[in-house]
Amino acid sequence: MKRFQITEYCHHMIEAFAVETESCIDATMGNGVDTAFLCRLAGEQGKVIAFDIQEKAVENTGKLLEREGLREQAKLVLDSHDNMDKYAEAESADIIVFNFGYLPGGDHKISTKAATSVSAVEKGLGILKKGGIMSLCIYSGGDSGYEEKEALLEYIRSLDHKKYIVITHEFANRPNDPPLPVLIKKIK
Ligand SMILES: C[S@@+](CC[C@H](N)C(=O)[O-])C[C@H]1O[C@@H](n2cnc3c(N)ncnc32)[C@H](O)[C@@H]1O
Repeated sequence: MKRFQITEYCHHMIEAFAVETESCIDATMGNGVDTAFLCRLAGEQGKVIAFDIQEKAVENTGKLLEREGLREQAKLVLDSHDNMDKYAEAESADIIVFNFGYLPGGDHKISTKAATSVSAVEKGLGILKKGGIMSLCIYSGGDSGYEEKEALLEYIRSLDHKKYIVITHEFANRPNDPPLPVLIKKIK
């Protein structure tokens, strides 16, 4: 990890803890960096479904995947992630990735929101296979505010410890509301 970007850190967590990788969901497509990562991880036989509410994100991701020769593996969906249960069956995904916030280089006002984010994580946990993992990268402060982070933390802290392992990774010494990576493993 050369620059220690938080998305890279989340990718390392996923690579370290994922048992199976063929069926993946990118819940927040953005510019497609996570979608491309998941397509590589899923391999040529694998499948990735990616969601975003912005056409620009679908366009940017499509272009990135074309450049990288990964377009075949991905289904890009222009819809909110809290509708992901319309596109994926229960207990069908090995990995689900959320990278909350706004489109890098885009309008900061078009951002993930507390209510839909919590609902999407809840639906995602239903779609995750037993043994599967979900990563969350939560931002706060600045344009993001604190409501979404607080709602997500309240929700994940309430999850049954017999069914899920939930680990938050906290920067201990970084000022100004550092991002908060979270790993959830479904054990039952
Ligand atoms: C920080 S970006 C994601 C970065 C992205 N994963 C990448 O690799 O570039 C967050 C994205 O979430 C999208 N978003 C906001 N609300 C959403 C929703 N309800 N459903 C799906 N995506 C949403 C935004 O449009 C934005 O593109």
